[in-house]
Amino acid sequence: MAQAQLKMKLKKVPRKSPAVPASKKAGPPPSKPEPRKIVRLTAADLAEKQREISVSEFFTKNRHLLGFDSPAKALLTTVKEAVDNALDACEEAGILPDILIEIQAISETRYRVAVQDNGPGIVKAQIPKIFGQLLYGSKFHRLRQSRGQQGIGISAAGMYGQLTTGKPITVISRVGANKPAHKFDIQIDTRRNAPVVTADDEVEWKPEHGTRVEIEIEATYKKGRHSVDGYVEQTAMANPHAAIAYVAPDGERLTMERVAAELPKPPLEIKPHPHGVELGILLKMLHETKARNLRAFLSGEFSRVSPAVAEEIARGASLSPNMTPQKAAREQAEALYNAVQATKLMAPPSNVLSPIGEELLLTGLKKQVEARFYAATTRSPSVYRGNPFLVEAALAYGADSLPADEPITLLRFANRVPLLYQQSACAVTKSVIQTNWKSYGIQQSRGALPSGPIILMVHIASVWVPFTSESKESVASYPQIAKEIRLALQDVGRKLGIFIRRGLREEDAEKKRSYIEKYIPHIGIALQEILGIDDKRKEKVCATLKDTLERSRQL
Ligand SMILES: Nc1ncnc2c1ncn2[C@@H]1O[C@H](COP(=O)(O)OP(=O)(O)OP(=O)(O)O)[C@@H](O)[C@H]1O
Ligand SMILES: [Mg+2]
Repeated sequence: MAQAQLKMKLKKVPRKSPAVPASKKAGPPPSKPEPRKIVRLTAADLAEKQREISVSEFFTKNRHLLGFDSPAKALLTTVKEAVDNALDACEEAGILPDILIEIQAISETRYRVAVQDNGPGIVKAQIPKIFGQLLYGSKFHRLRQSRGQQGIGISAAGMYGQLTTGKPITVISRVGANKPAHKFDIQIDTRRNAPVVTADDEVEWKPEHGTRVEIEIEATYKKGRHSVDGYVEQTAMANPHAAIAYVAPDGERLTMERVAAELPKPPLEIKPHPHGVELGILLKMLHETKARNLRAFLSGEFSRVSPAVAEEIARGASLSPNMTPQKAAREQAEALYNAVQATKLMAPPSNVLSPIGEELLLTGLKKQVEARFYAATTRSPSVYRGNPFLVEAALAYGADSLPADEPITLLRFANRVPLLYQQSACAVTKSVIQTNWKSYGIQQSRGALPSGPIILMVHIASVWVPFTSESKESVASYPQIAKEIRLALQDVGRKLGIFIRRGLREEDAEKKRSYIEKYIPHIGIALQEILGIDDKRKEKVCATLKDTLERSRQL
């Protein structure tokens, strides 16, 4: 089409007369463009331009890295960061979460997001830094399954609000019934990446403990699976122990009841596994440790290293177990690193993770969709780069509400958080595409998601989820992770395959039974006419025929 148009246009262009040299043409020759002057800068000139970049300045320019690249996504990211924190705080404090999400429309492009929890609250002195400084938090320096891990989420949302509306983030928090509630207005000084408190008051607040965060942002609100509505539904599926009330900008109220009466098994914090530590990190740890000797350093700061194993590693590196770790030279650290890699060690402890579990995965799916078949699997833990992780998968098949010939609905979760964007970059999607769904009776085109009336949930739980970016939207494809996802998918796929094959067999049998019921009476009438038998005899012949055919059908 475009090519045809191009040809027509080309035809219309009149033929040019043979080119005449410029010197022979009438008028002055066209002036040559001035060559651009090259200004040479000295190293001293360049040095004058060097400046430190604060982390807030960096993320203000690169806000897409934090999930604020479109107004619709900005709304979701803001809600997600606040809800992640609310759920983490409740669980860490052993409190069954009661979460309230309210989004108020100020205009078509401006919304005020409020998220309130019944968690432990935040001590007054910590509030400014938590909400007004990027890269400040309690979860980065530990290895423990939680939704947050970077220390950037909520302050980034506050910074986006400040950037787009000029308004500060408002925080109300209370740590106990006999303590007053504090209300703060906080802004970020992006130059210094430091909080600026613009209001700090004691206020009347009903809840005995908890936190309420309010952020006004430029955003747009849409319905659908990639919106806040979809996020709330999926969060409830992966967190059956949480009660979530959600007031959408249009005033619609959604209440997700608590399905599980108990908190999930609390995840445990672990120390890094020596096999997952790089040389640079080892060197830094050696220099920063408080341990008095190498033996105590190795056994105290890593998992699966007893004092005896520490001595074995030191021997392997030709170092004394009593040497002062802080004095280790680079060569010594390298020898230690090689000795660590060469030493056989137990895999990191695997009982530190908190999966959703097959039963609750199924409960969540059943709440979401009424289907003909459900399957779920929770795999045992495995390890990538020294970090324990596990994969769970669940599927619902054959719901009337799901289209039969469109790609399946894939729901991805990491540490119980729904991942709504960057689907194609995610290890989960890649593994789903690479699985051979045809062998389970499901349609699939090459290099695509399978098609069919299926909702497929995949959950990755880890002490450290390897996200592909700070916005935590997709999981990196470490080979061990990809393998575990594939095995989980094969497990639920096999169960589905058995159901589909059984269903097909039953359908076939039903068809044959209906043929017998339909045609035998006609055969009876024909026999009666040909042989002249009475009705009683005809009935008997029909019964015998039916019986014989039924029996041969079942053989
Ligand atoms: N509602 C809350 N109740 C109690 N503590 C909170 C709450 N919100 C945030 N915090 C504390 O503030 C810290 C910083 O939160 P922030 O969301 O910025 O980072 P994070 O959750 O540690 O990691 P991530 O950047 O991955 O979200 C948290 O580590 C937590 O200790
Ligand atoms: Mg967070």
